[in-house]
Amino acid sequence: MAQATPFPQDRTCPYHPPTGYRPLSEQGPLNRVTLYDDTEAWLVTGHAEAQALLTDPRLSADRQNPAFPLIARRFELSRREPIALLGVDDPLHNKQRRTLIPTFGVKRVAAMRPRIQRVVDELLDAVVAQGPPVELVAAFALPVPSIVICELLGVPYADHDFFEDASRRILRSATAQESDAGRLELMDYLGDLVDRKAKAAHGDPAGARAAAPAADATPEGVLDELVRDRLSDGTLDREELVRLALILLVAGHETTANMISLGTFTLLEHPDQLGALRADPELTRDAVEELLRYLSIADGLVRVATEDIEVAGQTIRADDGVILSSATVNRDATVYSDADDLDVRRNARHHLAFGFGIHQCLGQNLARAELEIALHSLLTRLPDLRLAVPAHELRMKPGDTIQGLVELPVTWGRG
Ligand code: HEM
Repeated sequence: MAQATPFPQDRTCPYHPPTGYRPLSEQGPLNRVTLYDDTEAWLVTGHAEAQALLTDPRLSADRQNPAFPLIARRFELSRREPIALLGVDDPLHNKQRRTLIPTFGVKRVAAMRPRIQRVVDELLDAVVAQGPPVELVAAFALPVPSIVICELLGVPYADHDFFEDASRRILRSATAQESDAGRLELMDYLGDLVDRKAKAAHGDPAGARAAAPAADATPEGVLDELVRDRLSDGTLDREELVRLALILLVAGHETTANMISLGTFTLLEHPDQLGALRADPELTRDAVEELLRYLSIADGLVRVATEDIEVAGQTIRADDGVILSSATVNRDATVYSDADDLDVRRNARHHLAFGFGIHQCLGQNLARAELEIALHSLLTRLPDLRLAVPAHELRMKPGDTIQGLVELPVTWGRG
């Protein structure tokens, strides 16, 4: 019998879904794929079917379920360790999410915009002072969301080399052991931070200062609020709070960093669209939505069926793995005309780049604000920004993790 198409596959172009997925979406919205361990799962590529399934309570996000499909060997140990929010079902999920909704709501994010703008401006000052060529991931795309999430949570940015490296190992290591070591180190670090914040909340100011192994004092942030309000009233226990801190810190910088660098590259590769955006900065919001749709960097939302589900003439059986390819869903021709074209004037609002249903990205308002401010400021400040190396020399992240570029060397002026 012919083997089902392998999933995931590497992209051959940084901004298009892997070419190997195309025959699948042409066959229909639901197909069988083979995972790295030779098990099979359903791959959903249709927009309507993805929306229906992501709101269906018969699909579970619980990694502890032995039938939960894993998309890479590195996640094997995640079966033992619960992931907050993303890896739990209601009612636990609902409880965790409710504690964080005000933090990531439109109002609080709007109030953060001036600070995000200052962070972006200072980083661009440093980029200009350094002069071309500059490697944009390290100099700009990564520090913007990293600084912002640190300040929001109350994590010392002075420790960024450590937590960025631990996140990279969690998300991109070759082995489960390396990935798990990254997770454990980050859990220990955040556990320590939470303990010191708890001490400070109980009137031991030395606790807060000691939380910063580096030069600056531990900043106050959402973790302090959670310690003060949710740990003390028993809504969250220490372990749960540390797990929440971990997902917020990792998801809060890694995703947006990839969108800033890959978004910049994609605009540079589409000079007509870049020109339209430069000519009318009012298009920035729509351009960000379109880039989110077009790039779909979190490609592969994973679930397991807990009951039989009929969809698109197929039966997903209880214990079947279900994977939703947001990159393919967001190119569904029945929803987007000329879906493979980048069009910054398009209304791309219904894309699933942030997922859909109860697990839809908690940080989406923040991510949008960061992307709008970062891209607009970068393009305004460096009007003749261009690649410093041929596009084909850029290294891409593999298909089984958040999509993006490893590095983005750029130049401008006479550089
Ligand atoms: C452009 C940047 C981002 C993209 C593309 C993105 C994408 C996603 C996607 C697709 C999901 C749903 C996963 C699923 O259903 O399995 C998700 C969930 C989540 N994201 Fe984001 N994200 C981004 C930025 C952020 C930021 C800045 C934060 C801030 C902390 C964040 C925190 C989260 C959390 C906590 C969840 C889990 C929500 C839940 O399960 O209730 N994300 N994200």
